[in-house]
Amino acid sequence: MAAPCSIVILTGAGISAESGIDTFRSAGGLWEQHRIEDVATPEGFARDPDLVLGFYDMRRAALANVAPNPAHAALARLEREFAGELLLVTQNVDDLHERGGSARVLHMHGELKSALCASCEMRSPWEMAMIDRPPCPVCRAPTLRPDVVWFGEMPYEMGRIYQALEACDLFVSIGTSGAVYPAAGFVQEARASGARTLELNLEPSEGSRLFHESRRGPASLLVPQWVEEVLSPAGA
Ligand code: OAD
Repeated sequence: MAAPCSIVILTGAGISAESGIDTFRSAGGLWEQHRIEDVATPEGFARDPDLVLGFYDMRRAALANVAPNPAHAALARLEREFAGELLLVTQNVDDLHERGGSARVLHMHGELKSALCASCEMRSPWEMAMIDRPPCPVCRAPTLRPDVVWFGEMPYEMGRIYQALEACDLFVSIGTSGAVYPAAGFVQEARASGARTLELNLEPSEGSRLFHESRRGPASLLVPQWVEEVLSPAGA
């Protein structure tokens, strides 16, 4: 196959699993421990804000105990060394891509280390707990919520993502179950524009058959291997 000129990468919880962050839908995953409608919807937040703020405070604090793995590092290497266009889109709200060395990451589902003010709608970098209703750094109102996209809300930067999917010649999906739209539909968008599509995942995902090629295994092995292929003189 010809070397790609423009790549869009989508990552999901599977890329952070080997760093020790629970995925959502595996046995014992986050959605077995918590009900989506309680902790990941605007209605759940309106019903019980303490439960929701506590859930995201716990996940934010847990980031201090994990570290990026070789898959994050490999994507950072790709960003540094790939001569073409690259867009790294993640559904993850952790900061492991950044800590692994990626400088340009599009967090379509928001970030744990960001706060969104329900009053002034500004987004601010955020490290602390929110349970005690700290004031918004911009307008001082005690109305901060996690800057995480909940079910029923619009993910960030969809226009930019669709533009990149239309223009790319390779789309790669890493560690995501393909259970949540719109991200689950990116493979079809990319294919419709003529891109080659590759999945790197531990097990077959819901959308595996939509990809030209699917590779099975842990991200910490598959991603560095694939990055090496792309950066080798013959391309991927
Ligand atoms: P899921 O938990 O749905 O899927 C994780 C995928 O990663 C599964 O297909 C696993 O097989 C795979 N996986 C697990 N360990 C892996 C490893 N070491 N290497 C490679 N793959 C591995 O997580 P997401 O697909 O990211 O949204 O979930 C998508 C969205 O659903 C999340 O962003 C979140 C959730 O509800 C919101 O909260 C809005």
